[in-house]
Amino acid sequence: MIKNAYQVAVAEEQGLPAAAELPAGEDHIAPAPRVSVQAFCETVETAAAVQAAGEDRRLAKAHVKIQMGGIAAAIEAYRSSATPNVIVIEADTRADEILGGLDQLAEVCDAGTRVMVIGRINDVTLYRELTRRGVSDYLIAPVGTIDVVRSICGLYSAPDAKPVGRIIAVVGAKGGVGASTIAHNVAYAIGADFGVDSVVADLDLAFGTAGLDYNQDPPQGIADAVFSPDRIDGGFVDRLLSKCTDHLSLLAAPATLERVYDFGAESFDAIIDTLRNSVPCIVLDVPHQWSGWTRRLLVSADDILIVAAPDLANLRNAKNMVDLLRVARPNDRHPYYCLNQAGVPKRPEITPADFAKALEDQPLAVIPFEPQLFGTAANNGQMIAEVSSGHKTAEMVRQLAQVLTGRAEAKRARSGLLTPLLAKLRKKSA
Ligand SMILES: Nc1ncnc2c1ncn2[C@@H]1O[C@H](COP(=O)(O)OP(=O)(O)O)[C@@H](O)[C@H]1O
Ligand SMILES: [Mg+2]
Repeated sequence: MIKNAYQVAVAEEQGLPAAAELPAGEDHIAPAPRVSVQAFCETVETAAAVQAAGEDRRLAKAHVKIQMGGIAAAIEAYRSSATPNVIVIEADTRADEILGGLDQLAEVCDAGTRVMVIGRINDVTLYRELTRRGVSDYLIAPVGTIDVVRSICGLYSAPDAKPVGRIIAVVGAKGGVGASTIAHNVAYAIGADFGVDSVVADLDLAFGTAGLDYNQDPPQGIADAVFSPDRIDGGFVDRLLSKCTDHLSLLAAPATLERVYDFGAESFDAIIDTLRNSVPCIVLDVPHQWSGWTRRLLVSADDILIVAAPDLANLRNAKNMVDLLRVARPNDRHPYYCLNQAGVPKRPEITPADFAKALEDQPLAVIPFEPQLFGTAANNGQMIAEVSSGHKTAEMVRQLAQVLTGRAEAKRARSGLLTPLLAKLRKKSA
């Protein structure tokens, strides 16, 4: 939707029709997905407009936060924390100051974050420079509530808009290695520590434990989606999700055996596509099996985490999975893997170094076997971080979440036991 002078300038540059050729009148604004929006305002008028926008029905799913301080406050804030899906900056200054500030902001911005600017300068040279820097939209102050709503929603509804969601598939190299436990804990951390809305889809329909792990027993879930593919749309999927925390929802497995679960390779396509359009992060808890649909989900995920226990069968299986997925995804990062349940007393184990040699990649983490901690969490329907948030395993889970969500390099250097190791791994795998 071409609306303002900035967008006209962008359109002209791209050879698209100019504003005059577009239909006039109030347009339809598609609701925004579950994105996080953070605004850094300079004037109370703009803050009020953004605040009111956040209360608009079309932004009902989005999380909108507002603070004052403009671009300087934004740069300061994101030096040490992850950026949201959308940053709104009010820049009440000269063009060169706006551009200088944006360059600094770019250094601390995570990939995928979109930046909208609200300024007072109406000038085509500034527009060009803003486009060149990848600014998604420029609004001229004073802005009305509906302008802000339209601009944020427009980021996700344009015909060429990229789907908002990132798919992370977690799978075990063998059954029982803790893949589901790690998937659930990582998804929890993505919501709790990064404020990113996520959905866990429990794809082990017969025996899945996500409902138990999050202490939820929803009447509906993933089965309703795969058995009625024709009904799938945003509203239908919303009703299937059960909310676990502010930022985390569950698409639960029925875990009942009345039906059998034989699926075609494409059975999950519709639900995944719909989730991708509305949720920033989707964690797939993929059962340990090799079928048309599991293979397809792994191949099409944005990132893959293979969980392996340190024994020979796990090593062989992980190696086979990594080899196949590397070939099937030649232009993607290699699948990540982590070792879990390491250090069981008296058990001979294959070392992380041997895994690294065979898989030609370092593990993202080596999580110790901790029956007390994991057993307590599992039996109480809690996450590791809820049982003991300061525990080093909880920190490892956070680190996994950070890497899997593609957080910016610099910001991974928060204090944490794994930081130096992870930094080294990243250099190697980059
Ligand atoms: N690091 C660990 N230490 C101790 N127990 C663990 C650990 N990781 C997972 N578990 C336990 O192992 C069991 C199997 O985990 P699960 O996540 O269901 O495995 P999978 O999905 O790979 O089949 C669960 O009881 C879980 O609590
Ligand atoms: Mg499992």
